[in-house]
Amino acid sequence: MKKLSNKLPLLGGLTPDQFLNEYWHKKPLLIRQAMPDFTPLLSVEELFDLARRDDVESRLISFFKQHWEMKNGPFDQLPVKEKKDWTLLVQGVNLHHRQADALLRQFSFIPDARLDDLMISYAKDGGGVGPHFDSYDVFLLQAHGQRRWKIGAQKDLSIVEGMPLKILRNFQPEQEFVLEPGDMLYLPPHYAHDGIAIGDCMTYSVGFRAPSFQELGEAFLHFMSDSIDLPGRYADPDLKASPRPAEISTEMLDTIAEQLAKIKFTKDDMTIFLGEHLTEPKSNVFFTSSPKTLTLKRFTQSAQKNGVSLSLKTQMLYKGKHVFINGESFAVGKEDKLSLSKLANQRYLDAADMNSASTDALEAFCMWYEDGWLELNESKS
Ligand code: SIN
Ligand code: CO
Repeated sequence: MKKLSNKLPLLGGLTPDQFLNEYWHKKPLLIRQAMPDFTPLLSVEELFDLARRDDVESRLISFFKQHWEMKNGPFDQLPVKEKKDWTLLVQGVNLHHRQADALLRQFSFIPDARLDDLMISYAKDGGGVGPHFDSYDVFLLQAHGQRRWKIGAQKDLSIVEGMPLKILRNFQPEQEFVLEPGDMLYLPPHYAHDGIAIGDCMTYSVGFRAPSFQELGEAFLHFMSDSIDLPGRYADPDLKASPRPAEISTEMLDTIAEQLAKIKFTKDDMTIFLGEHLTEPKSNVFFTSSPKTLTLKRFTQSAQKNGVSLSLKTQMLYKGKHVFINGESFAVGKEDKLSLSKLANQRYLDAADMNSASTDALEAFCMWYEDGWLELNESKS
């Protein structure tokens, strides 16, 4: 269990609770040297390599002659680095880069169900994505070079029409800061902001997910359609001849309404739906099956020697007896719950944990290993 009472340099010396009570969803926070002596985790070339891949979401934004343009990746060719006025945004870097994942996990005082991804932007002098607001909270960590942020709490969030991206029509900044590498700016949802690169600039955005209720409602009804069970078929043994053949009879409507009212949504249905929905891999996420096929015996030997870790792309959550991994769910007994919740929380299990794991758990781990959801740890020696 993580200690939440520690003052974190990452939060400017606040404890996670202080930050959540005073700032989260409420007001911006500028943290100078949130990550002292920070150096970029990826070079610009490595970022460009990610933008060339079709399993990585990337966008190229340019502003030329007062006109915004946006192209979606993958990009065979990126504009020459020397040309100004463009920004490359690469989403989900944490899924492909271990240190990027470790950086994202520094924010795990916020539940995994809310944490989205690490996006990296690269811009030349003067580059940016324009004045806008986001629907989610965001931590903007300056990774390389400088960026001038202008921010404002304006209520007028109307946007310029006909643009490929959301640009505020009437941006009214109230505060301005220049961020240096290691500085970080937290912004609550709907806070207007505009970041302009000063020289070569890389910014890391730690983003959060906040699904709309409409999206959840639609997905929940879809999920329930697989599990409702309404036996029988409509019948009308007492049918009376009707002078108005086009009219739906009250008897038919009442009988069907009575049957449909039998569809009940239990809290358990909602729990299973939510866990599966939140752990469902995004459409561009593909797992690579393990290169080696191991028998359960060989897998267990290795796992009990060095332990296992979840793969960077795996999403794992739990609630009560339900455990969810990459869109699948299952109910577990008390003993397995202990090791599975530990794996979900810390994303690895060590040799001692694996030695006390049940045969059922080991079989599941072995299957996940084969599917590329879980990795065997390397020997430390
Ligand atoms: C950027 O990094 O250029 C944009 C990030 C943001 O404004 O949310
Ligand atoms: Co933004």
